[in-house]
Amino acid sequence: MSLVLPEHIGFIMDGNGRWATSRGLSRSEGHIAGANTFREICEYGCDLGIKSMTFYAFSTENWKRPPAEVAALMNIFRDYLLEAQERKAENARKGMHMHYMGERDGMPQDILDLFDTAEIESAHQTRTTVNIAVNYGGRAEILHSVKDIAKRVQQGELKPEDITEDMISAGLYTAGQPEPDIIIRPSGEQRISNFMIWQSAYSEFWYTDKLWPDFTTEDLDKVIEDYSKRNRRFGGV
Ligand code: IPE
Ligand code: IPE
Ligand code: MG
Repeated sequence: MSLVLPEHIGFIMDGNGRWATSRGLSRSEGHIAGANTFREICEYGCDLGIKSMTFYAFSTENWKRPPAEVAALMNIFRDYLLEAQERKAENARKGMHMHYMGERDGMPQDILDLFDTAEIESAHQTRTTVNIAVNYGGRAEILHSVKDIAKRVQQGELKPEDITEDMISAGLYTAGQPEPDIIIRPSGEQRISNFMIWQSAYSEFWYTDKLWPDFTTEDLDKVIEDYSKRNRRFGGV
């Protein structure tokens, strides 16, 4: 069987809390384990030459969690970004471009600064774009795009009847990237949880009961194998 490599894979990194609880660990320890899985899968995806990968790390709804858990997650993002600075040369060799994907409002400024630095420094590395979805919500993202379009209409640059779907897509954080071909959700949940709701109109879905910290490179191989067998019709025959 010939393998078809998805151009864009979305990962809903779910199940860290249950992974930890089942081991008698704190939820924060589950997030540390989940971050390690992210590192491994991200590197593997870069090695495979996937064009875009989007990792859902923190949703606009995740602020509802206890402050200590939110703080632990922010520390994990900070540590990862500081470590990425040290691994700059290696990431450059892999051709990895890092891209922050989410609302800036509400995020600690130092984390945004670290993301901005990583993004600017890796801008010329175009083999694999790694979108890290933090403080991300699909509805908020669409709202942004629509507000930008509304401003253009208000300024008389654009007529309402000339607004196109492509204009909405161009105002999303994934502008210029292919839409996700397949979205992976571990942990037994089968829902989208506000992840790339515009871009996923024709995405394939792949579910597993495994929890995210247990997800392996072999699982990603299996995803690609299964994807290769899917028959995408996009409404055609
Ligand atoms: C996913 O794991 C990580 C985030 C949402 C930040 P969870 O923390 O949601 O893990 P479960 O779903 O409680 O097991
Ligand atoms: C989705 O997981 C968000 C991330 C993985 C970052 P959640 O655990 O927040 O989703 P729900 O609450 O189960 O829908
Ligand atoms: Mg969850």
